Amino acid sequence: MPSSLSGKRILLGISAGIAAYKSAQLARLLTQAGAEVRVVMTEGAQAFITPLTLQALTGEPVRTSLLDPEAEAGMGHIELARWADLVLVAPATADLMARLATGQADDLLTTLCLASRADKVMAPAMNQAMWRHPATQRNASQLTADGWRLLGPASGDQACGDIGPGRMLEPEAILEALAAPTQTAEVHPADGLHVVITAGPTREPLDPVRYLSNHSSGKMGYALAAAAAALGARVTLISGPVALATPEGVERLDVETAREMHDAAQRLAGECDLFIGCAAVADYRAETPAEHKIKKREGEEGLTLTLVKNPDIIAEVAARADRPFVVGFAAETRDLEAYARDKLTRKGLDMIVANDVSAAGLGFGADDNAALLLWRDGEGEGGESLPPQSKATLARAVIERALACRRARAAH
Ligand code: C5P
Repeated sequence: MPSSLSGKRILLGISAGIAAYKSAQLARLLTQAGAEVRVVMTEGAQAFITPLTLQALTGEPVRTSLLDPEAEAGMGHIELARWADLVLVAPATADLMARLATGQADDLLTTLCLASRADKVMAPAMNQAMWRHPATQRNASQLTADGWRLLGPASGDQACGDIGPGRMLEPEAILEALAAPTQTAEVHPADGLHVVITAGPTREPLDPVRYLSNHSSGKMGYALAAAAAALGARVTLISGPVALATPEGVERLDVETAREMHDAAQRLAGECDLFIGCAAVADYRAETPAEHKIKKREGEEGLTLTLVKNPDIIAEVAARADRPFVVGFAAETRDLEAYARDKLTRKGLDMIVANDVSAAGLGFGADDNAALLLWRDGEGEGGESLPPQSKATLARAVIERALACRRARAAH
């Protein structure tokens, strides 16, 4: 048995799902691995498995209520929260996830989760439609952002007869994930990787005082840079002109035009592991910017500018023989999925983050965003819909998904 669990104090939380019957086996495996296990069950969980079973397996009384004077006299709930090195909730139902995601403390288990500063891991288990529901997906993203590590769920036959994602990971798989020596690497899954991100608008000069540009605020690209750095990556941010502070630990290269952004990207593309094109690059520039300020001409109603195409920065990065994993963005106002899929293929990207910029309060300039992720990894095509959330939370989800796809691709 793996020794990394030996002597570890694990608070095993069990909530009301049919998978609770597997928690007995999980408790047994954890104790066999040398962990000290104390079990807390929600009220509903006791309809699926009895506290006595868990008590017999762990040799410790099982706690079920916050308002139990006798149990509180033994080890108060705050004491129990402090006791744990690891909080493991398995199974975690949709309801429990919702309560934890909103910081509720309406029973013993949620109270302990809120009070404990230990590492927190959960193994979600529920019907596949419940898992796929945007509310649960939103809660899962929030819990991940709050520091929870989610193991699974697995896909397959469900107790209710459905087939799909929502099965609790098998106890052996949970144990393996907990005991893996890569636990610290999991916390910093981007350790040792170089991530290059383009962000913001570009500015294409027409003359010394005027330019063509767009409304990109750079917020999403900067949030991605901050998230990648927080996950352990070395990050270079190639930034167009924006009014944002450089995230901590991020190296920033300021550029103005698409061609400057292109040159910086090409310089770095061969030596990075992940390239994310989040910039709103101007598609065209003036063929010949005027040397002096363009004057209004008396008697002429119009002015004709000749524009030429800018290089497609991300497509060129994706076309390199020494290409990194490449993630692009697609801002669309209609037919989001079809346009995004087309862009994924046409530009040769590995993953695309598509957002509907016509939705109120989301996208350009806003602090929140929603996205549809589409990717191609070693196993084929995949997708995930990320509901409206802060750009910081979304950025973390995008980086984590990109890292997972990159790993899956490398494994093939
Ligand atoms: O074609 P479209 O501009 O919609 O594609 C968006 C994606 O392509 C974004 O990832 C953007 O950063 C990237 N792009 C680029 N260079 C261009 C135009 C877009 O890297 N000239």
